[in-house]
Amino acid sequence: MKQLLTVFSLCLCLAAGAQNKPTIAIIPEPVSLKTGTGTFTLPRNVIVHAPLHTEMKEVLGVLRQRMARSTGSTITLNNALPNPVISFLLNKTADKKLGNEGYRLSVTTKGITIKANQPAGLYYGVQTMMQLFPKEIESTTQVGNIAWTAPVTEITDYPRFGWRGLMFDVSRHFFTKSDVKKFIDNMVRYKYNLLHLHLTDDEGWRIEIKGLPKLTEVGAWRVNKTGYFGTFSPPAPDEPKDYGGFYTQDDIRELVQYAKERFVNIMPEIDVPGHSLAAVVSYPELSCTEGADKYRVRSGEEIMDWSKGNPPTALVDNTLCPANEKVYDFLDKVMTQVAELFPFEYIHVGGDECPKNFWQKSDQIKALMQREGLKTMDEVQAYFEKRLEKIVLSKGKKFLGWDEILEGGIAPSAAVMSWQGMKGGIHAAKMGHEVVMSPTTYAYLDYMQGDQIIEPRIYASLRLNKTYEFEPAPDSVDARFIKGGQANLWTEQVYNMRHAEYMTWPRGFAIAETVWSPKEKKNWDRFFTKVENHFGRLNMAEIKYAPSVYDPIFKSSRTADRQLKIEMETEVKGLDLYYSFDNSFPDNYYPKYAGALVPPKDAVMLKVISYKGKQPVGRMIAMPISEMAARADRVRR
Ligand code: ACM
Repeated sequence: MKQLLTVFSLCLCLAAGAQNKPTIAIIPEPVSLKTGTGTFTLPRNVIVHAPLHTEMKEVLGVLRQRMARSTGSTITLNNALPNPVISFLLNKTADKKLGNEGYRLSVTTKGITIKANQPAGLYYGVQTMMQLFPKEIESTTQVGNIAWTAPVTEITDYPRFGWRGLMFDVSRHFFTKSDVKKFIDNMVRYKYNLLHLHLTDDEGWRIEIKGLPKLTEVGAWRVNKTGYFGTFSPPAPDEPKDYGGFYTQDDIRELVQYAKERFVNIMPEIDVPGHSLAAVVSYPELSCTEGADKYRVRSGEEIMDWSKGNPPTALVDNTLCPANEKVYDFLDKVMTQVAELFPFEYIHVGGDECPKNFWQKSDQIKALMQREGLKTMDEVQAYFEKRLEKIVLSKGKKFLGWDEILEGGIAPSAAVMSWQGMKGGIHAAKMGHEVVMSPTTYAYLDYMQGDQIIEPRIYASLRLNKTYEFEPAPDSVDARFIKGGQANLWTEQVYNMRHAEYMTWPRGFAIAETVWSPKEKKNWDRFFTKVENHFGRLNMAEIKYAPSVYDPIFKSSRTADRQLKIEMETEVKGLDLYYSFDNSFPDNYYPKYAGALVPPKDAVMLKVISYKGKQPVGRMIAMPISEMAARADRVRR
């Protein structure tokens, strides 16, 4: 009997063990992860040992804020107390494999140890550690009735690239200092280390420059418009220009410090000579064009004709004048202060999408071309870039621009951020220039994540699975020149912080895994399982994300007898699509999609929702039949 009981309780244990086997879902995927048997359970009193180092503040901050808040545990840092639950150790002799950002994380049934060469490694280790606990650990309020367990594991981890960036456009819409801090808080969870702030554009100048007060008195403000950016009615003279904002130099210092404590550099972008309408409106003498004093900061009305591609034809001259010495004095002042405010080694100077049609008409430009022997408008821009390069270098900074700076002859020391696909970056790397890859094809977070029938409409789409295909270091180039990769969140259509989050996640997970994890560790099926786990974590953390990956992909065409045929597929496996044509709301009692549909003759709407088992996971999508017909007939909407 006794023997029987033992066997019985062993079975129970095994069953319970199997049931509770925690899922390990770490994003980005670590270099090496070995699981053991058993789990560690977080006690109510957590004794922590840690090196006394100023840079440990935020490493411990993760425990003191995120862990203590959800679990209710008390965190006591005291190296003199015995039996630490969590130990942070800085290696006395460098563990070469780990570099400056790597770590080793060991979870045993008794406790957790994180070792690294530098505090940054401990910071990334603690982010991984949080992901080993149940998702509720990310709750913004205390959660009861949870066993705070983490599986026994041994992890060795370090990044593939040193440049792991996210760009946040704070010009098209202004985002407050606390929004930017939130953006940083979110990105560090996924081991990003570079925040590129796009600080200036046609829609607003966002950084205080002493001695140039109009940049922020005038250039930071515009008329507020809501709808589809790019199609807004021109602002009337009496409409208040009270929408916008800027960061004072103290704000910038605070943000730089906030980022630094979290092992993030901030790279400023001053986008010139195009995208400069806010500067031109503030100081019209910087323009080659007479009448620039009548311009206003753009509110989203049409100012460019894109019908001939890049560069566009400008309807108003949004450029700084390369033939005007005042422009270089202006840029010298700006770069002096920007260089002082941002310790990061690069200044991004933009250089993209610079229209040349006003330059073509300008006598000043014609005289410059004659004097300098410049034959084309690209060479005029290259002349400007080379002068700007000298200014930037004179401030002790490196010069970096979008890939248009290659046109007309690249400045000798320039680094290139490749956005028009990979080709500019490949070309630059082959010439021996440093490159950061951030191609529209994989890394543009402003693009729609699903069908435009439900997403806020913009001119291009980028689904999560495509984002995950990003490979920043193509075989054809010497990998030493590829500093890393970056995703860009332009905000023409992003009006608030919740939507900024929606656009960033989950595609930000995919880019994080691309720039951190070894190439051979990438695996879409495993990644997507982790994404779903992290949706739960973001829910707990109250961070918004897009569920678009669950929504159907629609295709429409005409049958041989001209009937409309609608097909649907899904981006991920294991989903069922339920639909209706009768305008009611489908659920899992409705017809399940099993192949091409021909809508009933007078139907006006196809409604679809995706399920995983019995759970609705996608959104209720209402697709007008007329839209499907228009697409089938290739009528552009
Ligand atoms: C860009 O997207 N114009 C760099």
